Amino acid sequence: MPVTEQDVLDALKAVIDPDLKRDIVSLGFVKDLQIEGSSVDFKVELTTPACPVKDLLQQQARDVVLALSGVESVEVEMTARVRESLNADLIPNVKNVVAIASGKGGVGKSTVSVNLAVALAQSGAKVGLMDADVYGPSVPLMMGCADERPWTQDSKIIPIERYGLKMMSLGFLLEEGQAVLWRGPMVAGTVKQLLADVDWGELDYLIVDLPPGTGDAPMSLAQLVPLTGVVIVATPHDVAANIAGKAVALFERLNAPLIGVIENMSHFVCPHCGEVSKIFAGTSGDEMARYFGIPFLGSIPLDPAISASGDRGEPSIVAHPDSVQANRIREIVGKLAMEVSKHGMAERDLMRGIGILKRKDA
Ligand SMILES: Nc1ncnc2c1ncn2[C@@H]1O[C@H](COP(=O)(O)OP(=O)(O)OP(=O)(O)O)[C@@H](O)[C@H]1O
Ligand SMILES: [Mg+2]
Repeated sequence: MPVTEQDVLDALKAVIDPDLKRDIVSLGFVKDLQIEGSSVDFKVELTTPACPVKDLLQQQARDVVLALSGVESVEVEMTARVRESLNADLIPNVKNVVAIASGKGGVGKSTVSVNLAVALAQSGAKVGLMDADVYGPSVPLMMGCADERPWTQDSKIIPIERYGLKMMSLGFLLEEGQAVLWRGPMVAGTVKQLLADVDWGELDYLIVDLPPGTGDAPMSLAQLVPLTGVVIVATPHDVAANIAGKAVALFERLNAPLIGVIENMSHFVCPHCGEVSKIFAGTSGDEMARYFGIPFLGSIPLDPAISASGDRGEPSIVAHPDSVQANRIREIVGKLAMEVSKHGMAERDLMRGIGILKRKDA
């Protein structure tokens, strides 16, 4: 008996996405199924190209179909379409906005933002990076384009393209050395400009490097930018001193979904003997995540190479792609992308439940 489409789909129901906790058929991931005699071809369309279990799902999908009687060869193509989590008028073609925040300054927010954004772009996603730090915009320096100035076309600002992503910074709108006394409405106006007046085009993810702390600026920004979610960057010291906890509380109060916490400068691995030293006494990001009930996305060690490459304008993930840190960053990106997908999915289920979204829009 020749194999039918239904046989293949029934078999594929055994393949469960471990993060979304549903099978790939009911998730609508199986596309373009074609059967010719004993050959079966189909695509599995994931929610992000940065999916950490892409290879595993491909293997499982192939195995379950190959096990069917009457099937001799199976071709599984893995693709991705990032789903939209936002309905933001200011940036209609941006599917997800992820803000990077912290309880205080200097914990590595900008370093993490830059490396996460570049790693996401390397996975194949369309990525934008917006530097919204009103106090000290540092992304242009870290991305090696501090001397460039974006130009304007048809009254839109064209973002700078670097390392496979589009970047825009408040730094470009300021004169060098210019000190700005930011007042609430000015912050709001400038951030609005960075969103609406920039020609971001279509983006899967817009990463926003927020200013530090829990003051007015991050607060007004978080209210202005329609957020898919917030990622908190913390050092073990912030966790212990409950500085990171204040940031968590602020965003909870603003109803911004917390996607997870990244622990930066968590430890130092001696390049000579490999011994691991803790830099800050304190609690780990893992404990903080458990305490606040938000996912722990991973930790990045303290490494002089990260700092040096940032100062040189070449993000560490580009300068040292095979390093331990680069691997850590890619792991974090995988988890982050999955958390974003989960949030988007929960939102869509909710909207469908209350009848806002029709099945075909999902
Ligand atoms: N994992 C790391 N290892 C070594 N140095 C790091 C690491 N992360 C960040 N740094 C360095 O720490 C300094 C502060 O980092 P960064 O500017 O990214 O922090 P920030 O939280 O954005 O600061 P601000 O609050 O001022 O915006 C920089 O010199 C950066 O190169
Ligand atoms: Mg910064």
